[in-house]
Amino acid sequence: MDLTYATYLKLDQLLDLQAPRSQPPEHDEMLFIIVHQAYELWFKLQLHEFEKIKQDFINNNLYGAIATFKRTRTIMKTMVEQVDIVETLTPMSFSSFRDRLENASGFQSVQFRELEFLLGYKRPQMLRYVQPESPAYGRLVTRMHERSVVDCFYDFLEQHGVTIPADLRSRDVTLPTVPNETVAAGLLELYKNEPDLEILFELMTDFDEGFQEWRYRHIKLVERTIGSKRGTGGSLGVEFLKKSLFLPVFPDLWAIRHKL
Ligand code: HEM
Repeated sequence: MDLTYATYLKLDQLLDLQAPRSQPPEHDEMLFIIVHQAYELWFKLQLHEFEKIKQDFINNNLYGAIATFKRTRTIMKTMVEQVDIVETLTPMSFSSFRDRLENASGFQSVQFRELEFLLGYKRPQMLRYVQPESPAYGRLVTRMHERSVVDCFYDFLEQHGVTIPADLRSRDVTLPTVPNETVAAGLLELYKNEPDLEILFELMTDFDEGFQEWRYRHIKLVERTIGSKRGTGGSLGVEFLKKSLFLPVFPDLWAIRHKL
């Protein structure tokens, strides 16, 4: 049989994956399911693109990294905008099916956690929320022990003459990214003297700002929909989410801005 639009995209399977649980049916549950599934697809693509960026950094492929950061930051902007759609869900409408979610929560999104780990925000305690026997758990542990995008960024900077301190080079990769003054000083020099690199650094900052925006929009979404209720995942809800609100992915890029 000839390949068609539907068979290539496996649409029969894809469109069979939305299974609202409310009985009698609650109209808005379909939106809730589809928007989360759409986000999971974006997470999948982000993971794919950042794996490429790691290789671009290792191989000193500046234009490859620029092209792909342009893509990831554009996807991130779309992810932020999609919050508008979820905000058409009113608190009362959400309460009408919230019980059906039981303990399920974005908290358990393994791909989101993989993205955090891949970018360098490693929080081992988050492994507690994933079932240890699941394949997803294995994936997350692997990400935990792999070098992050920031670790590979150090490789790239080194190839452009930046001194990366030895303790940073040999650091335990299961720990989160930490700001470093020597790296920041090297970045400042490149920013001022290498216009091609400035383009890359600005795109990285765009992505970073976009991710923080997503966290902010998600918190406001949570606040307006459930207020101070605890999350279905068992956290304190808004209070828990605020802890990572202004967390940068590339702290050294933010540290030098007043000197530019
Ligand atoms: C009515 C809409 C939503 C509500 C009320 C809500 C609520 C919450 C709450 C309370 C948490 C904290 C963990 C917990 O105890 O459950 C959380 C975490 C999370 N949610 Fe949502 N959420 C909503 C929509 C979304 C959407 C559309 C996404 C997109 C994927 C999402 C992704 C996440 C992620 C990834 C986390 C973990 C964040 C982190 O660990 O920093 N949520 N959500």
